[in-house]
Amino acid sequence: MTLPRIRVRPGNRLVGTVDVPGAKNSVLKLMAACLMADGDYVLTNVPGIDDVTTMANLLGAIGLRITHDPGRARLEISNPGNLQLVAPYELVEQIRASINVLGPLLGRFGEVRIALPGGDDFGSRPIDMHLSGLAAMGAEFTIRHGDVHAVADRLYGAEITLDFPSVGATENLVTAAVFAKGTTIIDNAAREPEIVDLCNMLVAMGARIEGVGSSTITIHGVERDELRPVNHAVIPDRVQAATYVAAAAITGGEVTVRNAVPEHMEMLLRRFGDMGITVEPQHNGVLVVGPDKLRSIDVVTLPFPGVATDYKPLVVALLSVADSVGIVTENLYPGRFRYVDELRRLGANIRTDGHHAIVRGVPRLSGAPVHAPDIRAGAALVVAGLVADGETVISDVHHIDRGYDDLVGRLASLGADIARV
Ligand code: UD1
Repeated sequence: MTLPRIRVRPGNRLVGTVDVPGAKNSVLKLMAACLMADGDYVLTNVPGIDDVTTMANLLGAIGLRITHDPGRARLEISNPGNLQLVAPYELVEQIRASINVLGPLLGRFGEVRIALPGGDDFGSRPIDMHLSGLAAMGAEFTIRHGDVHAVADRLYGAEITLDFPSVGATENLVTAAVFAKGTTIIDNAAREPEIVDLCNMLVAMGARIEGVGSSTITIHGVERDELRPVNHAVIPDRVQAATYVAAAAITGGEVTVRNAVPEHMEMLLRRFGDMGITVEPQHNGVLVVGPDKLRSIDVVTLPFPGVATDYKPLVVALLSVADSVGIVTENLYPGRFRYVDELRRLGANIRTDGHHAIVRGVPRLSGAPVHAPDIRAGAALVVAGLVADGETVISDVHHIDRGYDDLVGRLASLGADIARV
C-alpha cells in the first residue's frame, strides 16, 4: 500500500473564500462531556478529522453510541447510562484529549481506570496538575501498569490554584467539579475559547459555572441526575483559520476566511498585522490581504489570550520568507521545534537555541520531499510549499488528517497547485 502524500507547487496567489470547520480542540472535549448525562446529544459543526473518529472509538468502547455524519458535519451521541469505566491504552495512546474522560467519569461514577495518555510526540506531557486538582477534591489514585485508577465515592468542592493555566487540567477539573458537593474555585484557570465552548455546553446541560473565560472559574456542584443532554454547535477552529490566513498571506493573496472568529485569535492577528498582513474583520469571518513582502517580527507563545503554541509552525513558515530576522520563543513545549529541520530542507534559514528559533528570511524557498512531524507542523510545511520553487512532497500526511478537514481541497479551491497523491 502506498501512503498518501501531499504535493504542492508554487504558483497562484490564493484568491476566494474558504470556510473554517469546527474546532478539533473543542469537539473532542464536548464529545467527552456527553459521558455526563444519559440521553441523546447532537453536536453540529463537527470537523471531518481523524481525531474525531479516534475519540468516537474511545467513547464507543466506554459505552456511548455514536453516529458520525461527516457530510452534515454532525455527530449523534447516545448515552445509555450503562458505561464501562475503563479507557484502554490502544485508544488512549492515540490522542491527548482522551484524558478528558477522566473528569466526567470520576465526577459522575466515582471511579475510572485510564491509561496514561499519549498525543503528539513533541515533548513530555504530564498530568500532574489534573491529578493534584482532583486529589484536592477528594479523589485517590493508584498508578500501576501504565494505568491511573481513580476513585472517589463523592468529590467535594475545593479551592485549587493551578501552577500553570493548563487547558486539559482546567477542563478535567471543571467537568469533575460539576457533580462535586459544594463549590469549587479554580484559580489561574486556562481561558482558551475551547474551554468557554465546553463550559457553555455544560451550562446548557444544567451545570452551574461562573467566570467562564476568566482565570477564576467557580463551579457550584449539582446532583448527578440534574444534567440533561443538549444539542450544541462546535466553535470554529482558530488554528485551521490561522492556517488559511497564513496561506493567503504567504502567497500575497486575497482571501475571505469565513467563520474565523477574530476575538479568538486577536493577538495572532495583531502580530500578523505587524508582518504587513491586512486582516479585516467581516460580518462572518475575516478578509486577508497578503503583502508583497512579509516583515520579520519576534513572536512569543503564551497561554490564551497570548499567541498559541499551535500557531507557531505557521509563524515560522511565514518568517522563513520575510524581509529580515525574527525570533520565535516557545514557552509551552520546549521540544516543539522538530519541524525546523524539515523547513530547512526547503531552504529556510533557521537556527534553534533552547526554546528560541532565530529565523532569517530568504528570498525563495526551494521544494523538496519532507515529512509532517505533527499536525500543525505538517500544515506549516504545506503553507511553505505554496511558495517553494519546484515541488514539495509532504509525507506522513496522517498527522495532518488528525486535525485538518480537507486542507488540500480547501487550498485547491483558492487556486493553490496542490494535490493528494
Ligand atoms: C491543549 C491542546 C494543544 C495545545 C495546548 C496548549 C488539546 C487536545 N490540545 O493541550 O493543541 O497546544 O493545549 O495550548 O486541546 N502540563 C504539566 N502538567 C499537567 C498538564 C500540563 O506540566 O498536568 C504542561 C504540559 O506538559 C505543557 C503545558 O503544561 O508543557 C501546557 O499543557 P496544557 O495546557 O495542559 O495542554 P493540553 O491540554 O495537553
